[in-house]
Amino acid sequence: MFRPKKILVPTDFSKNADYALRQAIEMAEQFGAKMNIIHVDEKNTEKMPFFFLDDAKLTEIHNSIEGFINDEFKKIDDQYFKGKDIEHEFITKHGHSHSVIIEHAKENKCDLIVMPSKGQSAIEGFFFGSTTEKVARKAPCSVFIVREKE
Ligand SMILES: Nc1ncnc2c1ncn2[C@@H]1O[C@H](COP(=O)(O)OP(=O)(O)OP(=O)(O)O)[C@@H](O)[C@H]1O
Ligand SMILES: [Mg+2]
Repeated sequence: MFRPKKILVPTDFSKNADYALRQAIEMAEQFGAKMNIIHVDEKNTEKMPFFFLDDAKLTEIHNSIEGFINDEFKKIDDQYFKGKDIEHEFITKHGHSHSVIIEHAKENKCDLIVMPSKGQSAIEGFFFGSTTEKVARKAPCSVFIVREKE
């Protein structure tokens, strides 16, 4: 029987990502799996050529993005993990979301990725968002794609 040991849940903090996370939590409870919840910051201010902004301003922007991500993780932790005995870790990385998610899964031996079919943009007419599609195609492990609620 397939028993995942480490489940990776990528989140863009959308409603659909929350919905997928809740399903991943149920699986983790059932299988006694660990969880990694990852957000990829695609706007890495440290690497952007904002020649018109000074260092102090760049640091301020960087800190406010980091603050926003940490607040979102805290909300997820309070809302979904309180009172649950699941070993879990919140991770922020920088780069292109799909490549970072795939690399993280490889390096950390995640054996299941759980994510929604669509995220933040949820464009009508496309069944898969671009991140989900790329992750499903190139992931080193199984991917459970959660169909969003109507
Ligand atoms: N920056 C990100 N960090 C972590 N996970 C992400 C990120 N962006 C997307 N994802 C994951 O992919 C899921 C689906 O989002 P995706 O980007 O594929 O679709 P979309 O936003 O609806 O469409 P688009 O292709 O226009 O971005 C998200 O809910 C999340 O699980
Ligand atoms: Mg997106």
